[in-house]
Amino acid sequence: MALTIAARAEAVPPSGIRRFFDIAASMDDVISLGIGEPDFVTPEPVMEAARESLARGKTGYTSNAGLLELRELIVDMLRLRYGLSYAPDNVLVTVGVSEALQLAMLALLDPGDEILIPEPCFVSYGPAASFAGAKVVHVPTAAATNFEVTAEDIAQRITPRTKMLFLSYPSNPTGAVLRPETLDEIASLVCAHDLWVLSDEIYDRLIYGEARAAGHACVAAAEGMQERTVLLNGFSKAYAMTGWRLGYACAMEPAYTAMYKVHQYMVMSAPTIAQYGAIAALTDCDEHVEAMRQAYDRRRRLIVDGLRSAGLPTFEPGGAFYCFPDIRSTGMSSESFAQALIREEKVAAVPGSAFGPSGDGFLRCSYATAYGKIQEAVRRIDSFVTRRRSS
Ligand SMILES: Cc1ncc(COP(=O)(O)O)c(C=O)c1O
Repeated sequence: MALTIAARAEAVPPSGIRRFFDIAASMDDVISLGIGEPDFVTPEPVMEAARESLARGKTGYTSNAGLLELRELIVDMLRLRYGLSYAPDNVLVTVGVSEALQLAMLALLDPGDEILIPEPCFVSYGPAASFAGAKVVHVPTAAATNFEVTAEDIAQRITPRTKMLFLSYPSNPTGAVLRPETLDEIASLVCAHDLWVLSDEIYDRLIYGEARAAGHACVAAAEGMQERTVLLNGFSKAYAMTGWRLGYACAMEPAYTAMYKVHQYMVMSAPTIAQYGAIAALTDCDEHVEAMRQAYDRRRRLIVDGLRSAGLPTFEPGGAFYCFPDIRSTGMSSESFAQALIREEKVAAVPGSAFGPSGDGFLRCSYATAYGKIQEAVRRIDSFVTRRRSS
């Protein structure tokens, strides 16, 4: 018998983001706008807490759900920020949001169930749903409506098999945010159809400008939503802790126990050192987060203005650290634009099509990189676009 691999692994494509990292890594003098991770190092109080946990010999497993002190801090933070009332037994500490979203899908979706996923979206969602055997139904979003999904677009795609809606705002790759009024409409719809909602809010602390003034629309905090929402968040982005691999899921019963069981067998517990670090992140790092947020905001204005002056219409991102210029006026697809840009100008960015069909014609540019590098990248993009237009 031949050695074959499982259909579920065969069926998913490799990530379209990784490919551009690899090209960038093999060339000199490339400016990368491709990477979706902070260029800052983790704040010192987190590092100090981790070092101290090692010095105290805290090197064993924690409880499956995670350190109680950390879960209590997450509960307090969510109450203060969003008025949510979770207990520590509603919080599961996970290996990043990556684990948490896979857990939620494995615990709540059966093969054949349909999950609605607005796109363009982060590359892991579709494969995670496929691993759970669910059928992905995309809900397209567009620049004309600020890449915000509408209740109407969701409603049109609900069938008797629909079991879950995935939401992810602020959005990777577009930087779109969800307005509180849109969330209220979506909340009424999902309550009427009795759907689960999985909400990835990993960028909730990185919001800017008008979106910041309006406040982050926390999905679980909307009317009737806490019992049906699995709230996902983590430390990777706001605290510059991508390599620590720490996130969490908050859910009510019966979702919590189902996710807990999957987590117990899949990973036992999240990394212990990282959990001690996360306690310091929640107690001692607000100023660090705010300083990073302000730096991203300055870069955001620089890149959006620069891309617009280069003649690429660019939607104003309200959150995360990405912008999503429209490159259709060049007549190129996003794949060929990104390939030619890296080859001719040594600027790496990810083709929008890597995030779903509605991303074609766009480019994801991460501004989690130094201000001076963004200035130079924008200058190179400008000459690239000018050359294309005159040829
Ligand atoms: C929207 C979104 N969700 C989840 C993740 C993965 O997060 P984590 O590092 O917590 O696994 C990313 C990383 O890029 C992301 O952009």
